[in-house]
Amino acid sequence: MSFYIAPILLRDYVASLPLEDVVSEHYQLIYLSRLALDSSVTCVAVIVRSARQRNPMQAIGGLLVFDGERFWQYLEGEKTSVCALAERIRTDCRHTDFRILLQSKFSGPRLLSAPGLEYALCYDGCLDCFEEACGTQAVDLLNALLPRLDMEPKHSIICSVI
Ligand SMILES: Cc1cc2nc3c(=O)[nH]c(=O)nc-3n(C[C@H](O)[C@H](O)[C@H](O)COP(=O)(O)O)c2cc1C
Repeated sequence: MSFYIAPILLRDYVASLPLEDVVSEHYQLIYLSRLALDSSVTCVAVIVRSARQRNPMQAIGGLLVFDGERFWQYLEGEKTSVCALAERIRTDCRHTDFRILLQSKFSGPRLLSAPGLEYALCYDGCLDCFEEACGTQAVDLLNALLPRLDMEPKHSIICSVI
C-alpha cells in the first residue's frame, strides 16, 4: 500500500485557522511626554486628525490622553508598525521628554475595539502616577485610568433633517 502525502502550503494552513489564532499576538506600547514649550495646544487637534487618518492604514489602534501639559499614549498593533510609529512620534518636535513606559507583546483581544485614535482629556493629575511607572505597572495603571478619562461618547450626535 502506498500513501500520497499532499503538500500543504503554509499560506493555506494559516488561512484555515480560526481568526483569533492568526491575529492573537499583538504589540503594545505606552509612553509619556510633555508638550514642547514652543508648541501651542492647538497642535493637539492637528495630531488627532492626522492620526485618525493614518493609524487605520497601519492597523494601529491608539488612545491619546492630554492633560493640558502632558501626553500619554497607548498604541497597539503589529510590532513593526507600532515601533515605526513610536520612532516617528519620539522625534516629533511638538513634544519633549518622550519616555517609553511599556513595550511588550500581548495575546488575546486588543484593548481598543478598532484601529484609529481615541482621544481623551484628563484632569486632576490623573497622569501623575505614570511619572514613575514602568512595565506591567503601567498596564495596571492604564486599567485604573480608563474610567477616569473624559472620552468622546460614541455616536453622541444625532443629526436630524428639518
Ligand atoms: C503626542 C503625539 C502623538 C502622536 N500620535 C500619532 C499617531 O497616533 N499616529 C500618527 O500617525 N502620528 C502621530 N503623531 C504624529 C507623528 O509624530 C508624525 O508627525 C506623523 O506620524 C507623520 O510622520 P511623517 O511626517 O514622518 O510621515 C503624534 C505626534 C505627537 C506629538
